[in-house]
Amino acid sequence: MLRPRDAVKSLPLYHPPLAGREGLRLDFNENTVGCSPRVLACLRELSGEALARYPENQPAEALAAGHLGINSEELLLTNGTDEAIHLLCETFLEPGHEVLIVVPTFSMYEIYAAATGAKVIQVPAGKDFAFPFDELLARITANTRLIAIANPNNPTGTLVPCDLLLKIARRAPQSALLVDEAYYEFSGETLLPRWRDVPNLFIARTLSKAYGLAGLRVGMLAGPRQHIEAIRKVSSPYSVNAVALACLPAALADQDYVRHYVEQVCHGRAELERELEELRIPFWPSRANFVLMRLGALSSAFISGMRKRGILVRDRSSDFGCQGCVRITLGTLAQTEQLLAALRQTVEEIKVAEANLA
Ligand SMILES: Cc1ncc(COP(=O)(O)O)c(C=O)c1O
Repeated sequence: MLRPRDAVKSLPLYHPPLAGREGLRLDFNENTVGCSPRVLACLRELSGEALARYPENQPAEALAAGHLGINSEELLLTNGTDEAIHLLCETFLEPGHEVLIVVPTFSMYEIYAAATGAKVIQVPAGKDFAFPFDELLARITANTRLIAIANPNNPTGTLVPCDLLLKIARRAPQSALLVDEAYYEFSGETLLPRWRDVPNLFIARTLSKAYGLAGLRVGMLAGPRQHIEAIRKVSSPYSVNAVALACLPAALADQDYVRHYVEQVCHGRAELERELEELRIPFWPSRANFVLMRLGALSSAFISGMRKRGILVRDRSSDFGCQGCVRITLGTLAQTEQLLAALRQTVEEIKVAEANLA
């Protein structure tokens, strides 16, 4: 009888709550207004003939490499960062290897790594989600083949200094270090200028967040030439489709659009953090386009109260160390105003309900 491999059988099903997302969607860390109008213009110009051909990815890859200031041989365009993670796991992992992740973090590292049969070792973040640098170094062994770090991290919004990341790479030369910079545009900090300092570092970027193209699925993986060549061998030459390849130049060219959106998000993030301080709701200062807060036993009531007001936020209670935590994505200035008004009303409503129960 046909059966999935054991490593696959024991995987949990990652089923993000994507159904019924009507309203202001502050639940998936997406761009809340959509991509640059230049990308939309490019979409409208696409011909049937362009879609009939197998997509040629080299020109877009050369352009993306130029955007990052690296050579084409050092870059792979991928079907979102998800595919970059998948390909790294396929290229470097086999049963018996070890993968280190710091939890809580983005779920796909564990899923793709565990699917290869490698052992995933979760290193818990410290108090207030402090990066457990010494603990992580202590878990590196001769079998470590991948260390995956989201920087800034999802769902906490915390950032690890570049020097620490380079030290980790140096302490594990037999391992790939993936620094996932999906939220780079919101933190402004990147390891990219220093990535040649070590021979085992990979940096992932995506157009899914600041660029507003989560539905188009474009990721960029930068890494040492000989390793990118190996990764290319396990990837499909067509995984980034013709529509995405056609739109990529317009997306990267419109940096004014990205800058303007990022400014609004960062402004909103400061406003939300100020509001949470005032309301005495614990939160973790964020460097990404979202803020994680702890509402404890009131988190479910908060999430439904916000939904009632047309705003979707994300329950992160099931993540390690995040019981009672809710993550809220920031958008434009007007959306932040709408968010703050709904947040005040919802918190007030919950307090009244709680007082009535007491
Ligand atoms: C840290 C991190 N990496 C990667 C992704 C997924 O990126 P993509 O849409 O490019 O696959 C996410 C999405 O939430 C994320 O939080």
